[in-house]
Amino acid sequence: MTAQAHEDHEAESKHTAESLNGTERSVTNGRYPAERAPQPVATRVQPPRYAQIIGWGYEVPERVVTNQDLEQIVDTQDEWIRTRTGIEERRVVAEPLETTASLGTQAARKALEVADLHPAKVDLVICATSSPEHLFPSTASIIQDNLGITQAGAFDLSAACSGFVYALSVARGQIMAGDAEYVLVIGSETLSRMVDWTDRTTCVLFGDGAGAVLLAASDVPGGVTATVLGSDGSGAELLTIPSGGSAAPASLETVSNGSHYIRMDGRAVFRFATRIMAEATRQVLDRAGVPVSEVDLVVPHQANKRIIQHSVLRQLKIPEDKVYVNVHKYGNTSSASIPIALCEAIDEGKVAPGDNLVFVGFGAGLTWGACAVKWSVPIEKPETSWWHTTQRQAAYQAAAARSMWKRAIRRLYSQVEPRAMTRRPVRKPDNEQPTP
Ligand code: UT7
Repeated sequence: MTAQAHEDHEAESKHTAESLNGTERSVTNGRYPAERAPQPVATRVQPPRYAQIIGWGYEVPERVVTNQDLEQIVDTQDEWIRTRTGIEERRVVAEPLETTASLGTQAARKALEVADLHPAKVDLVICATSSPEHLFPSTASIIQDNLGITQAGAFDLSAACSGFVYALSVARGQIMAGDAEYVLVIGSETLSRMVDWTDRTTCVLFGDGAGAVLLAASDVPGGVTATVLGSDGSGAELLTIPSGGSAAPASLETVSNGSHYIRMDGRAVFRFATRIMAEATRQVLDRAGVPVSEVDLVVPHQANKRIIQHSVLRQLKIPEDKVYVNVHKYGNTSSASIPIALCEAIDEGKVAPGDNLVFVGFGAGLTWGACAVKWSVPIEKPETSWWHTTQRQAAYQAAAARSMWKRAIRRLYSQVEPRAMTRRPVRKPDNEQPTP
């Protein structure tokens, strides 16, 4: 929506609200004229709501794997990786306990800290991921349980490296529709567990990590102001994990031929990415009514420094200092790359209230997406009250205890129930005939 459109919308809803409050209505003989009669609540025009980012956080594993480390395991060179991708090192989960959910939980916790929000207030948890803990249950549900977010829906969103932008768009829709006040949007990945560490064309590219933002409903104009999402499934086989889904369930054969690992046609994805990043950025800025010259910071998906240079920098002529790049430190962390980069940009003082930001990503599917953001909240971390911090810590501990208790009770029931069934069989009425 353009700035003018926002103003018009606000004026219109103010006008309608006044009409409904009775300041303008004309009442004839104690009755409303038919066209002015109060409407059911659901059809009234509500004041506009905006989806503001009020919290952010990221988590990366401690273990660093450098290009030199990779030289020891595959036929590659530091020089090749640096010049073709810009990557110098990446983080890789080390412990079996470090997982997509554990990284996502830590990132989300930090986002709640920044926003100083109690987990029980969150209405929805969306986890964008291509390396979920399981096909089901969702990683989002595990994170929800870890954080003691007891009053929320939770689901995973699969749009590969575009996932975070897709999730932001869904979260914004939930908030603007009035269905949610606070939404946690997480991008979390452990793609190191999905790559073939003998395949030099993919293993040098990916890394692990998680980033999260907390979106809140607000009447202050700004926040996520426009989104663009796209998909071209004809490119599905260009970047895929062929086995492990319902098309080719895991079997001895899929494991022995390695089709449960990431397969990619790098050149084709590169061509698509350079075109679509620029196109999606242009489109979302058009929708937001922001000229390219007024963009303060682009936070692109961090797959390859050359893709960023060929797309947003060259095609849109956005200067280098307005495009955030940290691919050299983390490699491609897929759906986590944009939120991690956003957090680092904030830490480095590159984001300020009033700034126009663009998040733009692309990935398997093929998918792409972009969000325009008018940053509206202060960057300085507010003094979090001692009391709120203690309450949150208590909530996390209570969440762990509650989860353990519920599991124990379910285990108990599952042992007791079958015996109860054998002791007291349900009797069918005598006249009921068995059905064939
Ligand atoms: O989030 C989305 C995920 N995917 C991407 O964003 C990937 C997009 N694509 C790319 O980033 C690039 O295409 C790559 C970095 C994957 C590859 O760069 P490239 O410049 O397109 O290289 P290439 O695939 O054309 O390969 C050039 C050469 C080949 O050797 P020959 O056939 O010319 O002799 C490859 O075998 O480089 C060779 N090569 C390597 N050499 C050393 C490929 N991988 C490596 C490697 N180390 N790791």
